[in-house]
Amino acid sequence: MDNGGVANGGQLRIDTTVPHPARRYSYWLGGKDHFAADRESGDAIAAAFPAVVELARANRAFLRRAARYLAESGVRQFLDIGTGLPAPDNTHEVAQRIAPESRVVYVDNDPIVLVHAQALLVGDSRGRTAYLEADVRDPDAILAHPDLLATLDLDRPVALLLVAILHFVHDDDQVADVVSRLVGALPSGSHLVLSHGTMDFSTPEGVAAYEKMFAAGGTDVRARSKATLQRYLTGLELIEPGIVPVTEWRPDNPADPRPVSPDLGIYGLVARKP
Ligand SMILES: C[S@@+](CC[C@H](N)C(=O)[O-])C[C@H]1O[C@@H](n2cnc3c(N)ncnc32)[C@H](O)[C@@H]1O
Repeated sequence: MDNGGVANGGQLRIDTTVPHPARRYSYWLGGKDHFAADRESGDAIAAAFPAVVELARANRAFLRRAARYLAESGVRQFLDIGTGLPAPDNTHEVAQRIAPESRVVYVDNDPIVLVHAQALLVGDSRGRTAYLEADVRDPDAILAHPDLLATLDLDRPVALLLVAILHFVHDDDQVADVVSRLVGALPSGSHLVLSHGTMDFSTPEGVAAYEKMFAAGGTDVRARSKATLQRYLTGLELIEPGIVPVTEWRPDNPADPRPVSPDLGIYGLVARKP
């Protein structure tokens, strides 16, 4: 950790009076790390777009199911980039419940997450967790970080989690480059877990409204199509059921009713490096 997380040149980097995306996401998830400004903003967005709370929870549930699937498949190392604030069933908790020796490296570029990182570092003593403050757009720095190298053995399979993060990187080619550098550094038997916002299920009017909003800077989420996501998977084998709305990715109880994808607009997938 660079500076203990809060101070930067003696200045607090965190303003609790301004709503913050990570804390708002935590609020929607039912977490405890948020302030009045985050709750007000979260409630306002949810009033205009009621599916957002369900979307956050469905995405988080996908992360949990995908991590569990990989731990059950024998993966013992996890690189979780775009960690978010601690919430029930963080990756190390899911993995270490199945295999206590699991090792997890968390990465986020948000100082708010850094402040809470200690909560992520309390893992099973038989395993190990580390936290790096770094930017996914600089994959080489992540891969060369001494804390990562002290925690993960890059000669053994790693599950790379990019869950609800790449839609914050707006340039398609940059995303392709990031994924290919990260996956390229991992050995055969590694996996990619990805979730990503999409407008594929929306009406033409909905898409037009979204594009207008994005162009005006009203949202920082760059929605992408299934075809674009597919391009990021060169050299990887999709695990069944492929690229599907997160709610459809190996649901715990397939017979239970689930929110319909048009309301949610987020894809999930797991792919394997052969
Ligand atoms: C919506 S949260 C997702 C949290 C968690 N992966 C989940 O799905 O529950 C997105 C996280 O990605 C982080 N993030 C966004 N852009 C990033 C970047 N360029 N580098 C590293 N982290 C980033 C944010 O700070 C935030 O914690």
